[in-house]
Amino acid sequence: MTDIVSLEVASWRPTAQPDIQRAAVDAVEGGGVLVLPELAFSLGADELRFLSPEWSDGRAKNISFEGGAVKGARGTPDDLAALARMIGRFAACAGELVAALFPRYAPYVTRARTSFRPQPAVGRPVSWRKDDARLHVDAFPSRPNHGERILRVFSNVNREQDRVWRVGENFAAMAQTFLPRVRPQLPGMPSILSMLGVTKGLRSEYDHLMLGLHDRAKADLDYQQRCEQRVVHFAPGTTWLCFSDQVMHAAMSGQHMLEQTIHVPTSALYRPDSSPLAVLERLCGRRLLPTH
Ligand SMILES: [Fe+2]
Repeated sequence: MTDIVSLEVASWRPTAQPDIQRAAVDAVEGGGVLVLPELAFSLGADELRFLSPEWSDGRAKNISFEGGAVKGARGTPDDLAALARMIGRFAACAGELVAALFPRYAPYVTRARTSFRPQPAVGRPVSWRKDDARLHVDAFPSRPNHGERILRVFSNVNREQDRVWRVGENFAAMAQTFLPRVRPQLPGMPSILSMLGVTKGLRSEYDHLMLGLHDRAKADLDYQQRCEQRVVHFAPGTTWLCFSDQVMHAAMSGQHMLEQTIHVPTSALYRPDSSPLAVLERLCGRRLLPTH
């Protein structure tokens, strides 16, 4: 079962003691969720207006911020600049937090996108594959990552409403159930997908299996209901972190969340043996990345 570990951290720039760092590493690399109930991301008086779905452009699921630009939002240029400042401030805070708690990840904190999610977590009609109210590990069809980790920092900026997740069994148990149901990748398929622009770069066997686990778990409604799981409430003003490629998670309700994704190479992990790549290679009995 996924561990939920709470730590008393009340600053985005904590002077993290070794025992706090160790507990944080154990929590996230061990496949748990690290919860910081005292670490709120504060909005300025002028930013509270952004807690409304009206800022979404209606097409994208989330408002995203990458390379200084906001995507998926609508408003006047002044509004969008203010929104970008708010999301950018969160990105900086999340980066400083991660660098303080996990010094080995520090060189990688600026590498990925930030999202602001002013829409309700559930309610939009989506296909089963995109239904994040079903337990899953994150895996992205178009972005093969060759074992690179997906660390996510979330903060509930809703003033009243909890963000509610379900979390499931641990990664190895889930993988044991679903690996036998993942069909092997056809030879030649990675090159074709890459040539057609479906993937950015070649989809490794690792990426293929992670996508398969994501899909097979979401497709199995019996598993969704009966597997070992628990409900977790993230109260307003709570920040939490996890490796979303390892934690079985499902978004059940909530609105107004900020999220920072950080890609951590396996070489920066403290305990690479517990990564999904290592677990899958043990279960398969072979290497899952091409050798160069
Ligand atoms: Fe997810």
